[in-house]
Amino acid sequence: MFTAAEFGNDFLWGVAMSALQNEGAPDTDGRGPSIWDSFSKLRGKIKDNSKPWPACDFYYRYKDDLMLAKGLGFTIFRFSISWSRILPEGTGRVNKEGIAFYHKLIDECLLLGLTPYVTLYHWDLPQALEKEGGWASYHILKWFGRFVTICTEEYGDKVKDWIVLNEPMGFTSLGYMLGKHAPGKKNLNLFLSAIHNAALAQAEGGRIVRSIVSKAHIGTTFSCSEVMPYTNKPADVAAARRVDILLNRMFIEPALGRGYPQEEGFILLDKLHMQNKAWKYTDRLKFDFDFIGIQNYFAITVRHSPIIPYVHASEIKAITRKVPHTALGWEVNAESLYRMLKKFWLYGGVKEIIISEGGAYFKDKLVNGVINDIERIQYFNDYLQAALKAKKKGINVKGYFAWTLTDNFEWNEGYKARFGLVHVDFKTQLRTIKNSGYWWRNFLIHK
Ligand code: GAL
Repeated sequence: MFTAAEFGNDFLWGVAMSALQNEGAPDTDGRGPSIWDSFSKLRGKIKDNSKPWPACDFYYRYKDDLMLAKGLGFTIFRFSISWSRILPEGTGRVNKEGIAFYHKLIDECLLLGLTPYVTLYHWDLPQALEKEGGWASYHILKWFGRFVTICTEEYGDKVKDWIVLNEPMGFTSLGYMLGKHAPGKKNLNLFLSAIHNAALAQAEGGRIVRSIVSKAHIGTTFSCSEVMPYTNKPADVAAARRVDILLNRMFIEPALGRGYPQEEGFILLDKLHMQNKAWKYTDRLKFDFDFIGIQNYFAITVRHSPIIPYVHASEIKAITRKVPHTALGWEVNAESLYRMLKKFWLYGGVKEIIISEGGAYFKDKLVNGVINDIERIQYFNDYLQAALKAKKKGINVKGYFAWTLTDNFEWNEGYKARFGLVHVDFKTQLRTIKNSGYWWRNFLIHK
């Protein structure tokens, strides 16, 4: 066993959530529609046909939920700002009530001794901007720049810790190539443009925060997954390399000033480079982040598969391989978190790593008011142990933020996939702390 004290006194212990997944109140106080409002209205896009409201009603219950975060022993609260509350049309008119809401939320965090970590973009683009091309449009740089400027000018005196983007590979691939997330597009050219615009926005956003907020601590987050070849055959190994580029390297490498990855015979990348030749932005893609956020939800195993376009790789699922997995079928492999931390650290140039999300969905059973989610407890135990190992080996891991405080709207999975430390009855909004929540509390108060 290990203790929280072993991570050091300055280690950052947090919980994370996002605006769209928690707030609800879609039409309240002048909020404009986001791409997820529209997407969820299309039949079949969200598994349980649900909408991102009322979600956890966080817009009205934030005080209670912050008390829960505090009560469980956390000292960091990570949340995102809904762009559609601040700028209902994405550009133009600023909505004073939206501005006021985040002032109240930040003030309440500070009052309780919770340090706010604010994510500027966690996947909920204003619908009005999607009509103009969304992340596939070059204008996003101008639109996002304005949003970042407004947020940092408003809150920069109180908030020092800023996260520019949440998982750019997540929202560009799921939203513009695979069609599983809003805005539901499946188009290679849109995907490549979205990648480039997001990579630029990540760096430009960082520069804006730096110029406006004194003593800012600026980061951005990356999804990552260790990619293993199914066999040692050269074709499988090459397939794993291609998937690794897509899942792990596309955004960190330009941020570090290396430009986009190169790989012989990977046509998708060639296309990206062809566009980038015209763009010639390698320098603008670079930004000296104070920290990076690592979000590692699963490891994957792939093999060569000629029928899959562009990547020529397909996944052999954890269930098929009979290895431990979550209720979403995601491979559980804590050692693989350790290896991912090492991979990002070995680039050189990364100053600090925060595990800005970590958590899992297992089927919870509420029995007589108790949720004994032992699998989730084991999960946190193992993943924290891997983080501690990385730290002891000299990798500068500075924090761990659990995903997530309360069960919430899990994107296209709807409300079924519950990641919370606190159970939510979505009919009554009743909160019940799961045993994993109590486990965290014990872990953190005995520091
Ligand atoms: C992340 C995402 C979160 C949350 C989590 C669990 O990729 O940033 O919003 O949904 O996955 O699936």
